[in-house]
Amino acid sequence: MLEVTGVAVLGAGKIGSAIVKALVSRAQDVRVVATGRSAETLRRVESLGAHATRDNRRAVESAELVVISVKPHHFPQLLRETGFDVWDGKVVVSVMAGVRLATLQSVLEGAEVYRAMPNLNAYVGKSATAIAENGSGSSRSLVEELFSLVGYTYWVPEEYLDVWTGLAGSGPAFLAEIVDALAMGAVASGMSRELAYRAILDVMEGTALLLKAREGVHPAQLRDEVATPAGTTIRGLTVLESEGVKAALMRVVEEASRRSREIGVDVDEKARKELAQIWQQAKNKI
Ligand SMILES: NC(=O)c1ccc[n+]([C@@H]2O[C@H](COP(=O)([O-])OP(=O)(O)OC[C@H]3O[C@@H](n4cnc5c(N)ncnc54)[C@H](OP(=O)(O)O)[C@@H]3O)[C@@H](O)[C@H]2O)c1
Repeated sequence: MLEVTGVAVLGAGKIGSAIVKALVSRAQDVRVVATGRSAETLRRVESLGAHATRDNRRAVESAELVVISVKPHHFPQLLRETGFDVWDGKVVVSVMAGVRLATLQSVLEGAEVYRAMPNLNAYVGKSATAIAENGSGSSRSLVEELFSLVGYTYWVPEEYLDVWTGLAGSGPAFLAEIVDALAMGAVASGMSRELAYRAILDVMEGTALLLKAREGVHPAQLRDEVATPAGTTIRGLTVLESEGVKAALMRVVEEASRRSREIGVDVDEKARKELAQIWQQAKNKI
């Protein structure tokens, strides 16, 4: 149970909507306000059962817990709209890729800040979400409960978030591609696409459950159990080896993680420069 009366989700896009949906269905006592710019976003929020508004400032004022789920390059504009004087005492979780805890802490004056990296599996309550804090937070359990509503949670040091993004954030796309390739192989061998697709999804789900049930057992053991001598599996595994698929998949995650790091440096630097400017403008007005 979430120990708050109000949650605000600023930027109810793909990830924000998944969080709103989980909150509305699984934390009924909590008032959920979500923001967007377009009529379409606001309609979607309403259809999920939350209060929809374009007014980011009022949304923050109405909540103890605030999720920031706009794209990183929209963050400075979001702050222009909220102002800098609404954050004191709020627990704020950013899911924005790349914007560092130190940057968030420097502009969200008086807030307790966290970063989280969920993935799109949040829609079905199966996100693998990494959460990082700057070490001074007293609301860890609240933040963990929030992301437990959309799946599994893992506390990690902030520096792991780029690798997390390359593995778990992008992971659904990589696995979708592998599923598609295997289904196409079945089509090439004469099966209907629809049946092949459903079959491989069942296989993926079952294999994940089996590997999870055998915690501590290396996946190679399952592989060896399936691969009987001179059988079908070893014939397929030989192709995987000769085509370098395992090495390619390792590189896939390394490259995606590297890109996350690159974007992070770029985004964080731009955000800090722009935020410093609007912070100064706000102070000059006081
Ligand atoms: N997609 C993923 O798999 C994933 C995974 C982990 C983390 N993330 C992070 O999550 C964040 C959102 O990603 P997403 O894929 O959900 O993007 P998205 O679908 O584009 O959602 C962003 C939302 O922010 C809204 N927005 C922009 N400026 C706003 C403002 N000033 N006030 C209120 N709302 C505003 C947009 O509303 P309108 O559409 O109405 O303009 C849009 O609905 C990003 O920072 C991303 O790095 C994404």
